[in-house]
Amino acid sequence: MSLFQDKKIILGVCGGVAAYKSAELLRLLIKAGAQVQVVMTPSAEQFVASMTFQALSSNPVRSDLFDKAAEAGMGHIELARWADLILIAPATANTIAKISQGVADNLLTTICLASAAPLIIAPTMNQQMWRSEVNQENIKRFKGRTAISLIGPARGEQACGDNGPGRMEETESIMQFCEQQLQQLKEQQSLSDLLKGKKLLITAGPTIEYIDPVRYISNRSSGKMGYAIARAASEAGAEVTLVSGPVVLDAPESVNCYKVRSAVQMHEKVFEQLDNMDIFIATAAVADYRPVEAKSQKIKKSQDTMTIELVKNPDILLDVSNHNEKLFTIGFAAETTELEKYALDKLNRKKLDMIAANRVGSDNTGRSMGFDSDTNELVLFCKNSEAGIEQKVLPETTKQQLARELIKEIVLQYENRNKKKDWK
Ligand code: C5P
Repeated sequence: MSLFQDKKIILGVCGGVAAYKSAELLRLLIKAGAQVQVVMTPSAEQFVASMTFQALSSNPVRSDLFDKAAEAGMGHIELARWADLILIAPATANTIAKISQGVADNLLTTICLASAAPLIIAPTMNQQMWRSEVNQENIKRFKGRTAISLIGPARGEQACGDNGPGRMEETESIMQFCEQQLQQLKEQQSLSDLLKGKKLLITAGPTIEYIDPVRYISNRSSGKMGYAIARAASEAGAEVTLVSGPVVLDAPESVNCYKVRSAVQMHEKVFEQLDNMDIFIATAAVADYRPVEAKSQKIKKSQDTMTIELVKNPDILLDVSNHNEKLFTIGFAAETTELEKYALDKLNRKKLDMIAANRVGSDNTGRSMGFDSDTNELVLFCKNSEAGIEQKVLPETTKQQLARELIKEIVLQYENRNKKKDWK
């Protein structure tokens, strides 16, 4: 069955030349099984007649926030709640600016503010308008918001004669993008409330250990997996606290995120946040050692060789599981060889409930695995009082989807453990 089947979609149409393509988009959405309500901004009517959309959707088009008759049928708040998805195509710089600032001065912008449905924006504008600093700032505001995503703009020749970014994406690409968002929504809904009322603490990213003010020792880690787990746990209804080393990612808005640099700082922040936590997930690639002394001035190049004395960093995960044996603890093991052996060793040595192991480095075709990539595969080893150690493979997929699968497994094992009183 099509993912669009019976989905309630608001198609927002703004005043741009590409508005004529919205009619085709509407036709495709209806054909795919969606119920579509078209909402036009006042200036959209200057480009396409509402009658076109009414005929294609078999629904009167909405455009006026103060239309008494339409509001009596379905008020704008009701309409905002009705939607499973809002798609604005084309979205002008003006509407983008309003949405990014929370302005609600027409029906479409009001619905956007009043709806919890995912919002897809397909921008269209003159290339200079797209590039303008203020527009780019507005676009940046959408970053890190799980509910808002952008498709396009495409580059090419523009109606005004310019060439550059600002064309609305092709309708087929927009349809594909909507399908992906609906798939995500389905996956998110499958997690709903699984972790409601639970508190999760997650470490992510690398740590950096200063040698002098300009040099440091670190581990290779993008933080993508940890951030994806934080997002998935939040989708599952948990209250999530993330303690993150330096990464270029934005934490989801629903997550309390603390940024740290060194292992010692991460250790301190984790212990500060540990009270009343139910689950601890350590995805951080913590540096095992730090320089005994971080020099206050830049070290000058003089000798041919130099030695830096290192001291062991605290093992955050081990300290956490020693500190609170009731806490459900999950570790990660990124290994280049003997995955199972090292993972099992960590599971026992760090007294964990579960360890998620993955291969890193490059496979036999030379393809990079684990690091920086958007996909991953995990092998889970879980302590289970009856079966001993249970093993499960979560096959390669996007890190976000993998994180959702991992959350489902954690919930299963967490509930199993809590049924047994003699655990650990
Ligand atoms: O000991 P190793 O680094 O191989 O173990 C990996 C697991 O332990 C990961 O979950 C990592 O986040 C955690 N860890 C930690 N503190 C350290 C070293 C590792 O929390 N100092």
